[in-house]
Amino acid sequence: MLPASIRAAGEEDVAALFSLNLQAADATWSEQNLSRYCQGTRYRCLLAERGQETLGFILYSQVCDEASVDNIVVARAAQRSGLGTALLNEALGAMAVAGAGRCLLEVRRSNTAARKLYARSGFTLDGVRARYYATARGREDALLMSRRL
Ligand SMILES: CC(C)(COP(=O)(O)OP(=O)(O)OC[C@H]1O[C@@H](n2cnc3c(N)ncnc32)[C@H](O)[C@@H]1OP(=O)(O)O)[C@@H](O)C(=O)NCCC(=O)NCCS
Repeated sequence: MLPASIRAAGEEDVAALFSLNLQAADATWSEQNLSRYCQGTRYRCLLAERGQETLGFILYSQVCDEASVDNIVVARAAQRSGLGTALLNEALGAMAVAGAGRCLLEVRRSNTAARKLYARSGFTLDGVRARYYATARGREDALLMSRRL
């Protein structure tokens, strides 16, 4: 099997990103929001693919020396094979090259997979936004994490 490759996403990838997000994660990202990350200015998107198949993506943004990971999604069938780590590492490297000194993110307390991924990549807990996210059963906390680049 071919290894997955990672590249910057463009406007032509928005439909594939939208579809992957619907299948693999929560459906709160509109095509319009995703499109903003494919225009390559302050907001950026890296996409992982194998042949024609989109396997994952990471959305990040940067203002001066501070960057943030805004979303990361890997197709269910491709999860737990290192792709999330590869996308995150690629994005962190690009942020550092672009002059960021710190990367921030927010993650749901219940999202064990994402929390482990971030912790393994050097992110530590800075604080908690209590009851920040809506859930089917009420509200849940956002954990605020960051790491130096
Ligand atoms: C979070 C996510 C991107 C991880 O992608 P991935 O490609 O599976 O990540 P990796 O294979 O690089 O895994 C890295 C580490 O994260 C942890 N991890 C990943 N998935 C996990 C799971 N289902 N349960 C527990 N730990 C998990 C493990 O420590 C793993 O390392 P290991 O496999 O050597 O034990 C993926 O689960 C996903 O798309 N989830 C849905 C979308 C989402 O919640 N995004 C985060 C928004 S903040």
